[in-house]
Amino acid sequence: MSKIDLTINKEGLLHNIQKAKENNIIIPTIAQMQNPDLIPEKIKEKLTHTGLWDVDPVNLFRISWHNEAKESGGLYQKTPNYVEIPSSVSGVPCRILAMSGKWFPTGCHKVGASFGCLAPRLVTGQFDATYHHAVWPSTGNYCRGGAFNSKLLACDSVAILPQDMSKERFDWLKTIAGQIIATPGCESNVKEIFDKTWELKQDPSMMIFNQFAEMGNPLWHYNVTGYALSDLFENVKKPGQRLAGACFTSGSAGTMSAGDLLKERYPGMKLAVGEALQCPTILDNGFGGHRIEGIGDKHIPWVHNVKNTDMVIDIDDEDSQRLLRLFNCKEGQAYLKSLGLSDEQIEKFTWMGISGIANVLCCIKFAKFYELTEDDVVVTVLTDSAVMYKSRVEELNEMYGAYSAQAAELDHNLHMLNLKTDSMLELTYPERKRVHNLKYYTWVEQQGMSVEDLNAQWYDTKNTWDAVHAQAKELDELINAFNDEVGLLKAL
Ligand SMILES: Cc1ncc(COP(=O)(O)O)c(C=O)c1O
Repeated sequence: MSKIDLTINKEGLLHNIQKAKENNIIIPTIAQMQNPDLIPEKIKEKLTHTGLWDVDPVNLFRISWHNEAKESGGLYQKTPNYVEIPSSVSGVPCRILAMSGKWFPTGCHKVGASFGCLAPRLVTGQFDATYHHAVWPSTGNYCRGGAFNSKLLACDSVAILPQDMSKERFDWLKTIAGQIIATPGCESNVKEIFDKTWELKQDPSMMIFNQFAEMGNPLWHYNVTGYALSDLFENVKKPGQRLAGACFTSGSAGTMSAGDLLKERYPGMKLAVGEALQCPTILDNGFGGHRIEGIGDKHIPWVHNVKNTDMVIDIDDEDSQRLLRLFNCKEGQAYLKSLGLSDEQIEKFTWMGISGIANVLCCIKFAKFYELTEDDVVVTVLTDSAVMYKSRVEELNEMYGAYSAQAAELDHNLHMLNLKTDSMLELTYPERKRVHNLKYYTWVEQQGMSVEDLNAQWYDTKNTWDAVHAQAKELDELINAFNDEVGLLKAL
């Protein structure tokens, strides 16, 4: 089954409608996430006195790249929040625009991917909120987003994540998730997470939302992240500039689907996937542990449209760690000031989490490889921000001692300006096929997917990827019908 199953379960649906009535829940549509002008004024009025992270169902309407950058009371803006990396910092002449996920509830855009996975099953009644527990297997942010959405939608949740993920992830989850399960290992130990989900599946009340396999994940990113990146480019481009590329490190590869939309709109551009050099699965069929939290899990996610991926770029995890320190220590920030950055720009550099920095490094390597100029623009996202990694910066300070202006200059030169076009590959047809074929070992051998569906992903784009992307319309119809039955929207 390549498309999302939207078959109605009448009993579950009736239960969910009743639960939504009791808990004051109105579900936003994908169209509203693309264009906040479609959100009713009464909802916006409520948002003006609601905090960004408040556990209030109205915050479902903040699953949007267009949120104002405000901790509380924010509404929407035409151009999504972004950080532009000036050439004095990147060392390349092209423009690099990184769209910020910090201004989503939970401080991370993964709350959108989890909405994309849960919403179809909730509004069809396949997930019965009076019976099922929503299980969110992840390396952290997706299960944070899943637990948050579950709470807003009055559903029970179970978060599964590796025990070595950052303290911030666990601390916050404890306040939101019904249950937390820590599996052995670090960032790249996803097999252990999958094993746990098979165990939990024995209990029929546990419904698993596996972001690596759920097509709701790419549906959301194609229709929401892709549109937002296109809005960003259109709103800030200067005369004569073209979109040359998009680079995204891959965890579940959901974000990569934004690239599918961009390639349709800007046919000349190229789409690159990033991963950690210490776990070079796409580049080299390789494996290993690494420190770029949220990405690179020793397998190719089922939802990665590999055939549409033009390049793979590997990033040394040491580069992203060193730059995290540079951007978030006062000595590093003073160094950035000496490069001519304004206080606002320096503040915005804290909007980059570790994988966000890796994304920017991918853009720089991409720009060097294609010898991009001032007329070129490369886009990416910042999945979360440095707020999620304060403990990591402290660990680095303990490990290396106090930071200094000299160390900052050295880090900038060594870990950014000195980047080379090594450990990256333009993917030819056979190389893409080689990467796609790796899915067989995880998904067909271990996780119960069929060879027919695997082949369809490669040979039948129209009835797989394109069909899933187009399901947003059908999903919106179901969401509208759900809201009508609940009756709260009409009564606003
Ligand atoms: C911090 C961080 N960066 C990047 C990613 C990768 O995003 P995607 O799963 O859409 O590939 C994730 C995914 O959870 C993440 O948490």
